Amino acid sequence: MSRARFLIGLFVVAMAAFGLSAYGSDTPEHPSELFKKNCAKCHGENGRAETTRGQNLRARNFTDAEWQAGVTDAELIKSVTDGKDDMPPWGKKLTPEQIQSLVKNDVRGFAKK
Ligand code: HEC
Repeated sequence: MSRARFLIGLFVVAMAAFGLSAYGSDTPEHPSELFKKNCAKCHGENGRAETTRGQNLRARNFTDAEWQAGVTDAELIKSVTDGKDDMPPWGKKLTPEQIQSLVKNDVRGFAKK
């Protein structure tokens, strides 16, 4: 193989790898579109529940580190699926995978800030 061909081949492989890493990234966007669409009107795009609805319903502030430390993913998944007090149930509207991603990526993601 000529040197030029080798370089072109290398370039193609590098671009493919770059494309894959950008697409299948392990750091999903935060907050996700799903969160903005379904959850932000009460919990806010910053997770602090400072929206009018969030304040009125006393929605959970996800940036509260003490609260984050005291609850398990399983408990949160259950609350989101079945609802809790003024929090509507999402189990019929969203798939278990979506709910899991919302808890693990979106809700937990607010803790790190
Ligand atoms: C209509 C307003 C509203 C919407 C929309 C809403 N929530 Fe909530 N959410 C609440 C309220 C109110 C609470 C507080 C319930 C409590 O602590 O008793 C809450 C609590 C929670 C909790 C904490 C549950 C626990 O066990 O402490 C999680 C997690 C949560 N919401 C996730 C979500 C997700 C994910 C979405 C979007 C799919 C969402 N919420 C949409 C009102 C809402």
